Amino acid sequence: MPTVPTSSSSTLAGFAGDWHGQTGWSRKCLTELAEHGVQTIYHVGDFGLWPGNSGKWFLDQLHKTAHTHDQTLYVTLGNHDDYDRVQFFRTDDLGWQYLKNYPRFRFAPRGHTWTHGGPDNPAGARMASLGGAGSIDKNLRTEGIDWWAAEEIIPADVTALTTNTADRSWDRVDVLITHDAPTGLARRGFPTYPAWATLDVQQYCHEQRVRLRHGVDQVMPRTLIHGHWHEFHHDTLTGVSPAGADYTTDVWSLDRDGKTRNLITGHLHLDVGLTDVVVLRPELQPEPSYR
Ligand SMILES: [Fe+2]
Repeated sequence: MPTVPTSSSSTLAGFAGDWHGQTGWSRKCLTELAEHGVQTIYHVGDFGLWPGNSGKWFLDQLHKTAHTHDQTLYVTLGNHDDYDRVQFFRTDDLGWQYLKNYPRFRFAPRGHTWTHGGPDNPAGARMASLGGAGSIDKNLRTEGIDWWAAEEIIPADVTALTTNTADRSWDRVDVLITHDAPTGLARRGFPTYPAWATLDVQQYCHEQRVRLRHGVDQVMPRTLIHGHWHEFHHDTLTGVSPAGADYTTDVWSLDRDGKTRNLITGHLHLDVGLTDVVVLRPELQPEPSYR
């Protein structure tokens, strides 16, 4: 196994929205995070795991920057990520997947669970990931080139999430990182669709959000952080678990690359979730703390 970045027990972490393989912006984000003392970054997907020379350039350059700042990125894959690369993934001792030449990038299998700061961190927040999403522009894309069927959140992914959580005897997940937004959020929607978003594609995308919601209802995250919709929101989701337990989830939706609300920092706490959230603006000054 290549050099594995050391797990940090610091509660401070960065969270980044969709980057879409934009090298300049992504490097700027890592540098901004480094200036705020952030070495652990969780990415919500549409990261930039892309085929061809542009994909290799992105990974090469970003990995160099991460190495310079001694950072590790833990990536939840989105829909615009190359799932054909998954066959080349290796798996480390904690179940994270990685590519041999990019050990500072760790990719979460669907439903992956972990403790922030490593398994020996008794105060580490209980974390989980469920990537994937339906591409609403699926009709405009070509399979294997810029669309991959494995983007789909399938019931087995939700089962993996709930099984992994149960195996750890966690009653709740502190922070769940997803690419898509589950159904039931007040500030989520797509009021009008272009002609190429045919009804079958709308249904295909919606079903995945419903599946994601089933997973959320079962693991009852205290905090949920997602991307995909290219909008920044701070929302509250209330739900009821299959066992009848009421729960409340603090939800952060991150904007895309190039936008001022693509990047946040916060502190991760066991039995609490994410606190002290600060929005970073790589070209501007940080906004006041949200709480
Ligand atoms: Fe996406």
